[in-house]
Amino acid sequence: MADEMIFHVKPSFAASARVNASRFGVMTNHAMQNPDPYWLEQARRLDWFRFPELAGNGSFDGDVRTSWFSDGTLNASVNCLDRHLAENGGRTALIWQGEVEDAVRHVTFRALHEEVCRLANVLKGLGVERGDRVATYLPMVVEGVVAMLACARIGAVHVVMFAGFSASGVAGRLRDCGAKLLITADEGRRGGKRIPLKTITDQALLELDGASGGSPLHTVLVVSVTGADVPMQAGRDHDYAALVAAANPNCEPEIMQAEDPLMILYTSGSTGAPKGVLHTTGGYLLWASLTQEIVFDHRAGDVFWCTADLGWVTGHSYVVYGPLTNGGTTFLFEGTPSWPEPGRWWRLIDKHQVNCFYTAPTAIRALMREAPASLSDTSRASLRVLGSVGEPINAEAWLWYSQAVGGGRCPVVDTWWQTETGGIMIAPLPGAVAQKPGSATLPLPGICPVLVNDKGIPQHGESEGHLCIDRPWPGQARTIWGDHARFVQTYFSTYPGLYFSGDGARRDADGYYWITGRVDDVINVSGHRIGSAEVEAAFGTHDKVAESAVVGIPHDVKGQALAAFVVLKTGGEDADAGLEAELARHVGQELGRYAAPDLVILASELPKTRSGKIMRRILRKIATGEHDQLGDVSTLADPSVVQALVERMKR
Ligand code: WT7
Repeated sequence: MADEMIFHVKPSFAASARVNASRFGVMTNHAMQNPDPYWLEQARRLDWFRFPELAGNGSFDGDVRTSWFSDGTLNASVNCLDRHLAENGGRTALIWQGEVEDAVRHVTFRALHEEVCRLANVLKGLGVERGDRVATYLPMVVEGVVAMLACARIGAVHVVMFAGFSASGVAGRLRDCGAKLLITADEGRRGGKRIPLKTITDQALLELDGASGGSPLHTVLVVSVTGADVPMQAGRDHDYAALVAAANPNCEPEIMQAEDPLMILYTSGSTGAPKGVLHTTGGYLLWASLTQEIVFDHRAGDVFWCTADLGWVTGHSYVVYGPLTNGGTTFLFEGTPSWPEPGRWWRLIDKHQVNCFYTAPTAIRALMREAPASLSDTSRASLRVLGSVGEPINAEAWLWYSQAVGGGRCPVVDTWWQTETGGIMIAPLPGAVAQKPGSATLPLPGICPVLVNDKGIPQHGESEGHLCIDRPWPGQARTIWGDHARFVQTYFSTYPGLYFSGDGARRDADGYYWITGRVDDVINVSGHRIGSAEVEAAFGTHDKVAESAVVGIPHDVKGQALAAFVVLKTGGEDADAGLEAELARHVGQELGRYAAPDLVILASELPKTRSGKIMRRILRKIATGEHDQLGDVSTLADPSVVQALVERMKR
């Protein structure tokens, strides 16, 4: 049984690890018993203009206003760049590998610092001030990292948008955050194709201008990635490279309060539009930096490859802020894992001598299918630690990752966390904690998980329940941009006094956590978090759709896939041939291709309770063909609806 499998820490690994078992115990006890001194001690890992005297303040009760190190001042870009210049300015901060094999850039800390300062001056020259929002909509290019750090340098708040979002997705986010300036590219490359980012941007801005009240967005900087000829609107659009080349290469960093916002990152919830999760400077940076070092056993100069896009929190914390604060070399890949042929990732690990590799189970499962052929001719001997994130990893994928990819030499760290937590929360420190395939294992020092049963009662010992966190930690989100009430409501009202993650989990006899997945209406497709409400809203914008309900169903590679039940305005199920595919495409256009459902089922009615609530539990069973396990349908307003759907599925 995979559950019983245990991989002990190798003494040779523990001997030189950043954190061994005894240190882990000391840290954990210290963090629990003397939290303020513990966190202030950890804060020493950052460079401060003024070192804080205060650690954490506030609680998860009432209005949930928490702050960390609030009397300290610092700048995130200084921590990523300037602090390394004196001794390691010539070290490679970033390796960029283009989709084209020969397109490679090695950027030293000194060069990155200079480019960041130049862009920071450009932004200032264009009227961006401290506290203003600057959005990016870029593929995986060096400029994406430069833009984030340039914002941090001048105290602007970065809002990074995934390049897979649609025009409406971009418009909605720009509208919500009120960005003044947007940095995009002519085009992005993806698996041999081009994504017309500037064209999509232009559509998004049209939509935004059309919206009531207009928008404060006045400037667009365009990075030339493919060199495509794209329309530039005079007065609004500027060539990024020309402005940066002409700018002053020195820029004094803004002195930021620890609690000044660093970033807004949109993520999906179970209801409504994506919400802008806000992280502040000091606590977030400490958490990204500390977790990157201890979870990946990071050493200065290590080449660290986190495969996440910069548009997700994983890209923020483990492509940019974690590795760079720690003086690591971060690796950025423009392409996809198996293009132009399977095995590209493994060859790149050898080519760039990657020491730590961090990816998602969905990618591991996809790559496992191409193996063993795709692994041949690569040694992956440079790897020391392997990481997994984004969704539960099944034991089979874990074992393949550990044995086939890591050759049995590398610990596998399964890391549980969320956009809202800022950084890793539950994971095995590789020199301290034995791994069990499929378990994220133990909380990091200072993190207090609580499992709450369906009556809201915290469980002790071996148990199962909703995963909550007691006690604030530095990396946690502070609010939802523009809607603090929604923040309190979403995370702190279900179980008063606790942060509710939205995940379910089990704790075994060793205290290990096994994440079982979302317990709300959030669906995790290939590690991308998608709200059912968002997809339903997208269906709603199609002329023919009256109503829809979206559920997650198991998928071998993606973890989960989206299944949608759609009721047409005409009521009938017998619509034009190909309408299902058209509806799926429509959602892809509205939200981005990643959110297009795999399965669209036309229905004449949806199963609802007497109070009108859609019974998703039943829809999930219908979509997966478990027609004999529908459970209690007696609370339905009209139980015959279920029978009709089951019949429909059989056709
Ligand atoms: C959701 C958060 C955290 C960065 C990537 C996603 C799921 C995340 C694990 C894991 C099982 C996991 C949870 C969580 N999740 N890591 N190791 N094991 N599930 O960030 O988009 O905010 O999604 O991803 O369901 O709530 P996100």
